[in-house]
Amino acid sequence: MSATKLIVGNWKMNGLLADSKARAQQLGSAVAATKDAVFDMVLCPPATMIGAVIDVLAGSSVQCGGQDCHTEPSGAYTGNISAAMLKDMGCTHVIVGHSERRQYHAETNSLIAAKAAAAHAAGLVAIICVGETDAERTAGQADSVVAAQLAESIPLSATSENTAVAYEPVWAIGTGKTASADDIRQMHAHIRAKVSEKVTSGGAQIKLLYGGSVKAANAAEILHIAHVDGVLVGGASLAADDFIAIAKASAG
Ligand code: PGA
Repeated sequence: MSATKLIVGNWKMNGLLADSKARAQQLGSAVAATKDAVFDMVLCPPATMIGAVIDVLAGSSVQCGGQDCHTEPSGAYTGNISAAMLKDMGCTHVIVGHSERRQYHAETNSLIAAKAAAAHAAGLVAIICVGETDAERTAGQADSVVAAQLAESIPLSATSENTAVAYEPVWAIGTGKTASADDIRQMHAHIRAKVSEKVTSGGAQIKLLYGGSVKAANAAEILHIAHVDGVLVGGASLAADDFIAIAKASAG
């Protein structure tokens, strides 16, 4: 477990320019004013806002990431954005394989592995998302589903420097239902074992994030579970006060 927690805000398809810039500004100032911060913060705005958010964050330690990228660096792929383009804008990270991409865009593990490899080739940290559905958990398949996602979605190029893994049980995303501390502890230990097997170059140091209805009220408990090295936050990252409170819960 690493001491510096990784706190990632996934803004999804929310916000317009003015409120996004204001939120980034507020977060940048709040992080700058936080003494002895034991977290790194990454904001993942919609692609159209990345440039403006990066401008607002100039000089701040808060970093920016994309919510998705294509497998190719360039080409005839109307509507897509490459990892190289995100890097060129100043992004440091990109989320790949979020369950909303898996569900609404039929993304497969092998496609996600190719996206993560493209992120690595561009010099970005890939945040690879995994997680079981409600039906899979009820059927007792959570461990095997996540093991298969890890085996097939993490590319050979993964190292502890260029990869983080986010465990986001699908039934906990945007529902207000959080996995119990015991479930998170058990699953993160399982993920740590699988990632250590799969990634020979520093797998034991890869940051493992939890995501799914993380909020200020439950962040401290979640962030102090073994093998939880950070959080991936959707809804609560849209309110700067809530999101900074989550980040500060890393301390202690
Ligand atoms: P949520 O979303 O925090 O709104 O549950 C998390 C995510 O989808 O990354």
